[in-house]
Amino acid sequence: MFTRRTLAGLGLAAFAFTAAPAQAQQGELVVYCSVQEEWCRPMMQAFERATGIRVAMTRKSSGETYAQIKAEAANPRGDIWWGGTGDPHLQAAEENLTEAYRSPQLANLLPWAQRIAEQSGFRTVGIYAGALGFSYNRQQLERRRLPVPSCWADLAKPEYRDEVQVADPNSSGTAYTGLATFVQLWGEQRAFEFMRAMHRNVNQYTRSGAAPARAAATGESLIGITFMHDAVTQAVGGAPVVVVAPCEGTGYEIGGMSIIRGARNMENARRFYDWALTPEAQALAVQARSFQVPSNANAPVPPEAPRLADIKLIDYDFAKFGSSAERTRLLARWDAEIRNAPRR
Ligand code: G6P
Repeated sequence: MFTRRTLAGLGLAAFAFTAAPAQAQQGELVVYCSVQEEWCRPMMQAFERATGIRVAMTRKSSGETYAQIKAEAANPRGDIWWGGTGDPHLQAAEENLTEAYRSPQLANLLPWAQRIAEQSGFRTVGIYAGALGFSYNRQQLERRRLPVPSCWADLAKPEYRDEVQVADPNSSGTAYTGLATFVQLWGEQRAFEFMRAMHRNVNQYTRSGAAPARAAATGESLIGITFMHDAVTQAVGGAPVVVVAPCEGTGYEIGGMSIIRGARNMENARRFYDWALTPEAQALAVQARSFQVPSNANAPVPPEAPRLADIKLIDYDFAKFGSSAERTRLLARWDAEIRNAPRR
């Protein structure tokens, strides 16, 4: 059925087609994108415009993308994995699923981004950073006369029964950052006790890490555990949410980018890698309302980005929690002890 909208869409497509040949066709690139769809799309379009390379992009969460790259290792279909938390990127590096590359842009990156590259034998690199936290819906909280949650420990209290949303750490890098954060804050035994207690309050384990921030924004869930910048996106959009840096301190992510070993479009993957590390490309995040701290020292830090210096951050051990053995073991323990534990 043709509607006005589809006709307008066709008109636009036809225009784009006639306007495109200024850039000769430069081949293709298959990108696995693990940030928000709202940022993935304009990023790919900008790269296409800058290079004439045609991008085929799939958006999946960090843990899901890691699993897909592993499953496809004998016959890789993707060329580059852009975005998502660093731990599964590090695990992929250790498992030889990704390719070493030293971008000429490396020297322009902040120390934490370079450190991740060195740690992985240059198989991954830091592209942004962000702290974990949670947000709550202020209107719902007031309406139901519930106390203000300000610590991780609060999220396990009975007054928040069914009020907490968080992702599944198998699919979501955000939720794995949470798991690893609790272990680093309290030791493994107490961390699992806390997650078991909080489990009674969890209304849903989502696939994607940022979904709970949207649920808190609409009031579908009172509280959502996400990276703080994902909650800021909702606040900037006008949602009645309050963003919390938990009182005990918190973990953080260094978002990653990796070239997939055996990439069919290796040359184009390197072009994307170099381009994605430039200040200009990193500045596109803000336009997509993504408020991470960018890794290029010359990229503008959005004023809305939660200031990492003001947040009590743990000294997150990326080498340990991004290792294949530790990530696999902790996720298996979470599956066995938390996912199917009784709610009552
Ligand atoms: C959001 C955040 C990113 C993060 C990503 C992880 O997009 O803005 O900073 O890296 O989530 O996604 P995941 O679904 O794997 O938790």
